[in-house]
Formats: sequence, structure tokens, C-alpha cells
Amino acid sequence: MKIAVLNGSPKGLKSITMQSVQFIKKEFAQHELEIINISQKANKIKKDPETLNNIIEKIKAADAVLWATPVYYFLVPSQYKTFIELIFQEDKNINAFRDKYTAVLTTSVHLLDHIAHNYLNAICDDLSMKFLGSFSADMHDFLDDKERQRLLLFMQSFFNGIEKKLPTAKKHGPIDHKAIEYKPSMPDGRIDMGRHKCVILNDAEENQSNLFNMANAVANHLKGDVEVINLYDIDIKTGCQGCYHCAYDNTCRFEKEDEFVGVFNSKIEPADILLFCGTIKDRYLSSRWKLFIDRTFFKQHVPYLSGKQLGFLISGPLKKNPNLRQALEAYSDLMGANLVDIITDENESSEAMDALLSSLAQRLIDFAEKGYYQPRYFYSIGAMKIMRDLFWGKYRFLCQADHKFYKNNGIYDFPQKNYKDRMLNNIVIPLTRIPSVRKKLYNSVQEEMIKPYAKILNKIGE
Ligand SMILES: Cc1cc2nc3c(=O)[nH]c(=O)nc-3n(C[C@H](O)[C@H](O)[C@H](O)COP(=O)(O)O)c2cc1C
Repeated sequence: MKIAVLNGSPKGLKSITMQSVQFIKKEFAQHELEIINISQKANKIKKDPETLNNIIEKIKAADAVLWATPVYYFLVPSQYKTFIELIFQEDKNINAFRDKYTAVLTTSVHLLDHIAHNYLNAICDDLSMKFLGSFSADMHDFLDDKERQRLLLFMQSFFNGIEKKLPTAKKHGPIDHKAIEYKPSMPDGRIDMGRHKCVILNDAEENQSNLFNMANAVANHLKGDVEVINLYDIDIKTGCQGCYHCAYDNTCRFEKEDEFVGVFNSKIEPADILLFCGTIKDRYLSSRWKLFIDRTFFKQHVPYLSGKQLGFLISGPLKKNPNLRQALEAYSDLMGANLVDIITDENESSEAMDALLSSLAQRLIDFAEKGYYQPRYFYSIGAMKIMRDLFWGKYRFLCQADHKFYKNNGIYDFPQKNYKDRMLNNIVIPLTRIPSVRKKLYNSVQEEMIKPYAKILNKIGE
């Protein structure tokens, strides 16, 4: 069988994900796996129609397609996203994928990898492919014999599925969307931002599009230091290459080659109110937005939106795309921002949108003024625990900037030296082996748990 492997790593064959693919190639030598470097060649694929056509021809000739990619910011790298957008631009490209069997293989550190897998599954469904499954490997799994065997079993079932022409089911329905044409006429009176600075980043490709109008309606509604920046006006020469040069001291290898780091440091860093405005393309925002997000990797795992109020303005069917909503919420949470709201153009009238945008503007300023930040969700708390294990151990020599940040901010809170808890455990655990004591303990759990809370409440009431 011929399998087209779409390599999403910007590192080409030096990719960790591709080590697994090379292993599969060796173990299943009866099949022909052709690795096509998508992300590494993304610029060429975008500029040269012949290069894209060649890839499409290879897809047509293949019996199946394996999407094999690293996870970047809980999705695929921006370069891969660009390729996916190119596929959807022409029916002849889409048709090449139609009815092909497919599977997804990623490597990552399991940080929100499920969002990337949901995304790719949805893309395969949109392309009318026959989806046979997903395999999310930790980037180090390959070094473990048991994990390699697990991968072989997955691939074996993939090949069997193709040979036996197994039926497959779609998980995601098609997304149709008809937005109203938004004609802003915001309520009179601009909102004074006082000392605050707001940056409105957007990827509007046309003036007078809903996104353009939403971004500008808010900008015009605010009085004070507001700047609207179009992502297409920033000279960004390359996507993140995953080179980890920045891991030493947060210096991006491309700092002097394009405008990205300069714009980030001079515009995003000083702002305390941010509006990120994006158009939905396929099942995520545009690859331009993904490019922006990927390039922020030079900040490594520092929550670089800490202390900022954040709102999203989205043009497109977000209500039908909960995976994207999750990606936006996860991004805000991981970066430490206070996510105030996400407003879309899925509304019945321009007046309704005016009211929502005005309310968002007001809340962004109120929260900035009062210094309110919502508590963190699982996304950032879970992520911090995954990452701190890596920075404390295996990756400390590589990720020195992150190690310093985690150390200076008390994120390494282990080993836990809480002597009072330890003593309590040492005494109570043996006692619970006595049935009568155990019964008494578990019967009083609810009462005992709220005792410290009740103490505070009682004091406040005094
Ligand atoms: C820009 C960037 C973003 C990343 N984002 C994530 C992420 O969101 N979740 C995760 O688990 N790993 C993330 N990683 C780690 C990679 O997925 C992981 O190292 C992967 O194995 C690299 O594969 P490759 O060598 O094939 O490119 C990220 C790495 C980079 C460089």
C-alpha cells in the first residue's frame, strides 16, 4: 500500500515525529510510506502552484494519508495550517482527499494535545476522508520499547482498516454559516480609558468586512491610547522553526530578521488591554493568527499576557466550533490573561452587536481599573505541573529561561515540606486500619472539611 505521510514539523526529517515514521517504515517494509515535508516547504508550497499540485498528485495516487505532526500551541504548526487552508481553496485539492483512509500521529508533551487531535479529525471529516484513528505520543515515548510496540499496534490496525475497507463514521458535522452584514452604529459617547493602553490586533483582509468593522467600532468607541494593528502589516518572515534557541534566554533567532519580536515587545508588552480579532478559517483562526501565536514561543513558558485584560472578536461560526472556543480559552488561561469575553458576528442584528461590543469595551476597562483577574482554570494549572517536571529535570539545561522563571516564581513547590500534614498523615493513616476509627472519620468528613471555612465566616460575622 502507498501511504502519503504529511509531515507537519518545520524541522523536516530532523523531527521527533518523523523518527516514529521512520520506525514504522522499517517495521512495515511491505508498505510504501512517502514522507512529504509540508511545514518545512510551506513558503514554496504557498508561492508555487506547481509544488502544491505535485503534492496533490501524490495524495491522489496514495491509498491513504497519514497526518504526522508535532503539536504547536495545541494545534498544528502555522506552516501546516497554511497548507490546510490551501487545500480548501480549490475543489480539485479537496477531491484528492475525498474517501481516502486516514489517521493522525502527533508527538507533544501532552499539553492540550486533544485540541489538536479534535481539529485534525474535523479537518479530515470536512475533506470527507475515512478516519481510522489518532495516536498522540509523548515526545519521549519512542525511547521506550513498550511505547514503540503500542505504536506498531496502532499502525497495524490502520493498515488492516484500509485493507478490509472498514466503514468509518464522521464525528463532526459540516459548518454552515451566514453572518449578518455588520453595520456599526455604536451608542453615543466614547468610553474614557484613562491611563490604560489598548491594542487591537486583527487579521482583517478586507476593509468593511465584519471583522474590520467590529475591530474599528470598538476602537472608535474608546477614548485614549488605542492602537489598531493588522497582523498582515507586520513583517513576519517565518513561522516558528522549533529550534529552541530562545530557550536559553528568550532571544528569538529571527529577532533581527523580521518585525515580530520588535512589535511584540513595543506594542503588546506595554498594553494592559488587548483585543484579539480573528476570522475563522476552516476549524480555527487564520494561519496568520497561528503564525503570530507560534512566534510568541520565544517567551517560552512564561505567561506573557499576565496582568492584561483580553477580549476576542471573532467573525465566523464559533458556536458550532466548541474546539476552537476551548483553544481560545486555553490560550488566554495559559498566558495568564483575564479573558473578559468572546464576541462573534453570529448575532441577529447590528444593534445587538453594537450593544455587545460596547459592553465588552466597558468591562475591559472596568476590570483593568479594578485590577480583577479571574482564577486560573485547569488549562494553566495542569500545564504548569506538566512543564515544571520537565524544567526541573530533563530539560533544565535546555530551557534555562523557563527554569529561572519557575524558580523565581515559586512554581517548584515540591518536595512539599509541610511537617504538620506529614505528622497528621503518619498518625491517622495507621489509625484508619481500626474499623471503628475509620467509620468515625469518614462519617465526620463533611463536618470536618468545612470547619476552617466556618471559622473565618464566624469571625467575619462578629
Ligand atoms: C512553538 C512550539 C509550540 C509547542 N506547543 C506545544 C503544545 O501546545 N503542547 C505540547 O504538548 N507540546 C508543544 N510543543 C512541543 C512539541 O510538540 C514537541 O516537542 C514535539 O515532539 C516536536 O516534534 P517535532 O520534532 O516532530 O517537530 C511545542 C513546541 C514548539 C516549538
